[in-house]
Amino acid sequence: MNYKLWLDTIIKYKNECIVIVDKNANVIYYNEPISNFFAQDTDQSEILGKNILDLLENFTEEESTFYRVLKTGEPIFDYMQTFITYAKKRVTAISTTMPLIENNKIIGAVEILEDINNFKKLHKKVTELQREDHYRLNLSSNEKNNGAVYTINDIIGVSEEINSLKNKILKIADSSSSVLIYGETGTGKELVVQAIHNSSFRRKDKPFIAQNCAAIPKNLLESILFGTTSGSFTGSKEKPGLFELADGGTLLLDEINSMDLELQAKLLRVLQTGEIMRVGGGKTIKLDVRVVATSNIDPLDAVNKGLIRQDLYYRLNVISLCIPPLRDRREDIEVLLDYYIEMYNRVLSKNVCGISDSCKKYLVSYNWPGNIRELRYTVEHMMNFIDRNIIDSDDLPNNIKSFDIVDIDKSEKDDLVIYPLKDTIKQVEINMIKKALTATNGNQAKAAKLLEIPRQTLFNKILKYDIKSNIRFE
Ligand SMILES: Nc1ncnc2c1ncn2[C@@H]1O[C@H](COP(=O)(O)OP(=O)(O)OP(=O)(O)O)[C@@H](O)[C@H]1O
Ligand SMILES: [Mg+2]
Repeated sequence: MNYKLWLDTIIKYKNECIVIVDKNANVIYYNEPISNFFAQDTDQSEILGKNILDLLENFTEEESTFYRVLKTGEPIFDYMQTFITYAKKRVTAISTTMPLIENNKIIGAVEILEDINNFKKLHKKVTELQREDHYRLNLSSNEKNNGAVYTINDIIGVSEEINSLKNKILKIADSSSSVLIYGETGTGKELVVQAIHNSSFRRKDKPFIAQNCAAIPKNLLESILFGTTSGSFTGSKEKPGLFELADGGTLLLDEINSMDLELQAKLLRVLQTGEIMRVGGGKTIKLDVRVVATSNIDPLDAVNKGLIRQDLYYRLNVISLCIPPLRDRREDIEVLLDYYIEMYNRVLSKNVCGISDSCKKYLVSYNWPGNIRELRYTVEHMMNFIDRNIIDSDDLPNNIKSFDIVDIDKSEKDDLVIYPLKDTIKQVEINMIKKALTATNGNQAKAAKLLEIPRQTLFNKILKYDIKSNIRFE
């Protein structure tokens, strides 16, 4: 076998540039595509035998991957470098450089370079294909038009909380029981409801309809939900409500805590009988609609404050899901950052490949009051402005830069700082209550026992300190 012939053939027809230098960084071999980096009619004598630095303008030994590999003996993979060739051509390439080692001695180095333009062309092609794919998928989902775009696979996270949430979604997807979902703003309540709908074999081809209950006058919301018969009130026509339109599918009642209490009573009746009556109409209509309600305040608090009727709460709370805020599952932050960087790379045709360690540390420590929504728009903001391929702290939007991070070194500093006794006792109480609630999975009676205080006292403290993040309802 003539291995040299094999090698020559492979190297000749490969698209990447291959350059080999000796131990002094003088070029001893290069293949055809390298002329793309210089001039088409490059003569061999212009390159062979020349030192690599003589072929590039203003390039130093420190900047040269060849010199670094010859010095350290360590390969450098997928390194992006920009240089100007002696033929005045500016080139940005991704390179991999490997040492050539014989008898434990570095005798040279080989570098494989790919012009970034090739990647860009490939990237453009992939984006086009994805767009076509997206268009095709949208067309087919429009044919079904169930109204829910998110599936369980769109819920990103590696935390125990997210894994358990996904398991629950799969378990409850096909039941008809009402669901109550609690989570701060931006934690993904709507995403979860859509995932429940699309995971249900029975309902996924039927409509998914969402209605926000906040800021809609009581009478209007009632007719929107239950429909109207002609003449039922000024100008009203024969019109089905959202319950009828969602028949067979899912109706999301967002921010149920904002719904008028009288209307909540009517909703309870519908949930109990499975029948609706249009506003102004005498006929009852039997329906099969799964109702999912969300609240961005703690539902128990809402009951205690008189915002949610207790009877409706019990009815809705048959299945309850709590989505913890992002600051309580920080292990999800990094995967979400990567996920959204990838997404905006596609959308904005960028080539960002990561975040610097210091910036990542900063983002993982940030408290994310707007949760995943805030994280998503932060990444979108940074991706719009960045023109490098690594996101750094300079790229952070101003509102994030001036945040109050959870100080990771706080315990060390705490040893040196004197805090007011009142604040310290309050903080200790909050921490201990949170611990007890976490240990008992949110069961207040058990938590009160652990803390050796009456249940009512615990309840009052939870309200007073506005402790909610760790309370679960199952
Ligand atoms: N686990 C997750 N993985 C990926 N994206 C997520 C996740 N959770 C939320 N998001 C995204 O965050 C944004 C906000 O989510 P969503 O609208 O479902 O929040 P919400 O809890 O309904 O907020 P609000 O109470 O303000 O209505 C959406 O763009 C959603 O796709
Ligand atoms: Mg929402």
